[in-house]
Amino acid sequence: MTEFVLVTYASRSGSTRGVADAIGSSLEKNGVKKVDVQPMQLVKTLQPYRAVVAGSAIQNKRWLPEAMEFVQVHRSELMQKPFAAFLVCMTLAMKNGENYRPFVSDFMAPVRVLVNPVSEGLFAGSLDLRKIPSVRDRLLFRLSVIFGIWQEGDHRNWEAIQAWAECLLPLLLC
Ligand SMILES: Cc1cc2nc3c(=O)[nH]c(=O)nc-3n(C[C@H](O)[C@H](O)[C@H](O)COP(=O)(O)O)c2cc1C
Repeated sequence: MTEFVLVTYASRSGSTRGVADAIGSSLEKNGVKKVDVQPMQLVKTLQPYRAVVAGSAIQNKRWLPEAMEFVQVHRSELMQKPFAAFLVCMTLAMKNGENYRPFVSDFMAPVRVLVNPVSEGLFAGSLDLRKIPSVRDRLLFRLSVIFGIWQEGDHRNWEAIQAWAECLLPLLLC
């Protein structure tokens, strides 16, 4: 139990899963004895874990529904452990995306209402139009690419993700 940390995620097309994997690897590399990286739907109990890191892809300015459900279901346990939260979105991948950090930070407001994280990571994600299942959404995003609002591709900043994971360590194992 002492140094067992859970990194859990909600992802639709895989980019948030990749961020969770990177955070888990960084925590292990920097001395956490054991890290579980799991999709939220597979997590039944938080009892074995000393600390929890949870993250979600953003859709329509919100964490995915299963991610909000995870926080609601495990709220009382999360309030008793160090809990860090992250999100992955395309707004931060826009031109001057860094200017939108306060706007993006508000996507985390519904999470904060339930449990206040010890730290929040806000990361740019990726956009692959072929992986968007809804025809309507695919069309909308194709238009946003045509008009230059979003660019297709992988915009994840691994250095920023790594840096956040390193800052987390003392907060999670305090
Ligand atoms: C239907 C849909 C809605 C989205 N809504 C937003 C949004 O409101 N704001 C944003 O910044 N990114 C939005 N995105 C972009 C995703 O957050 C981004 O592609 C992320 O990397 C997806 O993570 P995943 O690969 O783990 O699913 C949306 C993507 C999709 C497919």
